[in-house]
Amino acid sequence: MPNSTSTLSHSAAWQALVEHAASAEIASLTQLVQHDPARQTRFQRHGVGMCLDFAFERVNDTTLRLLELLAHQQAWTQWRTRMFAGEPINTTEARAAWHVALRGTLTHRPAHCDTDHARTVQLAEAIRQGTRHGATGKKFTHLVHMGTGGSDLGPRLLVDALGSFNAQRFRVDFVSNMDPVALDRVLAQCDPAQTLIVLASKSFTTQETITNASAARDWLIAGLPGGADWRQHMVAATSHAEAARAFGIHTQDILSVPVWVGGRYSIWSAIGLTPMIVIGPTAFAAFLAGGADMDQHFLHAPFAQNLPALLALLGVWNINFLDAHTLAVLPYAHALTQLPAYLQQLDMESNGKSIDRDGRPIDYATAPVVWGAAGTVGQHSFHQLLHQGTLCVPCEFITVDTPMGDVTRHHILNANASAQAQALALGRPADGLKPWQLHPGNRPSLTLRLAKLDAHTLGALIALYEHKVFMQGCIWNINSFDQFGVEYGKQLAAEQLRPLQR
Ligand code: F6P
Repeated sequence: MPNSTSTLSHSAAWQALVEHAASAEIASLTQLVQHDPARQTRFQRHGVGMCLDFAFERVNDTTLRLLELLAHQQAWTQWRTRMFAGEPINTTEARAAWHVALRGTLTHRPAHCDTDHARTVQLAEAIRQGTRHGATGKKFTHLVHMGTGGSDLGPRLLVDALGSFNAQRFRVDFVSNMDPVALDRVLAQCDPAQTLIVLASKSFTTQETITNASAARDWLIAGLPGGADWRQHMVAATSHAEAARAFGIHTQDILSVPVWVGGRYSIWSAIGLTPMIVIGPTAFAAFLAGGADMDQHFLHAPFAQNLPALLALLGVWNINFLDAHTLAVLPYAHALTQLPAYLQQLDMESNGKSIDRDGRPIDYATAPVVWGAAGTVGQHSFHQLLHQGTLCVPCEFITVDTPMGDVTRHHILNANASAQAQALALGRPADGLKPWQLHPGNRPSLTLRLAKLDAHTLGALIALYEHKVFMQGCIWNINSFDQFGVEYGKQLAAEQLRPLQR
């Protein structure tokens, strides 16, 4: 491995940002707002049913210009072209990161994308209609989705966010934990005759999923009436059909996941079977279309209007130049409660790296610690630290313009989001206040305002964050698409288990 250090932090574009970050012109958010009242509208960008409002980030026009220079220096448009072309940009594993091909708009994508998708739709529809039923002839009413990481978080997010589309009223449970309590609790609520187990595992080797799947298979065999075929109650989405067949799944019930889609990018593939069953293929198609529309925006909007590019560079600014190493994701939308967990994997597994694409150690920070919770719940828990703690935590508020329920309560919700952003940025006038009542302010945030929350917008939102993470990987010159950091722990666990298995 080359042992010289990555040169990015010595580059002209980087150094210009270091100098700018130390300048008085961007030191105070209050002054930035006072000196430029128009920034509230100037620092808004629109696209694909959403508005990115970054008036409360500690940036001015110079910052944006310098960030754009950094992005160009790091050849972001060339990397973007390569990703969309399906080139093997995941160099350590010599494969493409081609999740965009699953969203339907690329003319040159492999033909099997359409056949794979058609098979998924067919199976989802049959389960919804009850023509695909359990071994005793009863319709499935209870879905148990088994997977972990990207094979869990995406399906979980979609089912939770778009639950109002669940016209068939399936009960859905997710089991991702190794702890037997997780599976046992769920199975205790299930009638085997009406339960379908969906196994989602790209590799079909993940210990948690396969161990849980084996326990569920035993449960089916014990619980179904004598002679009934347990195989009728399990389907799988995987890249390794052979392994699924060896487990006992019928060939016609094994859906294919391309090897060139990373686990945390796989919600667009057959890994999305469970949400497709729940919300229906039509809503799932709208979800894919939302992702594809964001792809077109990312491909064609100029940098200054490009939502993923701006979101990425604002993050880079906070992390590398303002020294703020965590990121709070705060959806003020109950339906997006699962989003912080989803983004945690997307961001931290993709960009939690400390060598560059050439294997050289790097001397700058990469992915932030991503965390968060739905508002207003977090206000009564960790917002104290956001307002008065010693850490500066950049926040991303996500709000929805169109009420999904009672209008008055929805307005109260949104007023809370905007109040939090204001207090963080501008603080509280200090006159007559005791020290413990002070709000120092100057804490950056942005707000993503979604016009409405439906399948299309959710697709666009997820694709927005995927491209943000990709773009940050381009800036940091790292491979965002491998995850060797999780492998060694798996190996050690296997070694510890070996003596017990003899
Ligand atoms: O261990 C990490 C990881 O490989 C993730 O990248 C992936 O999303 C998860 O495990 C699940 O993997 P699989 O779908 O192969 O079971």
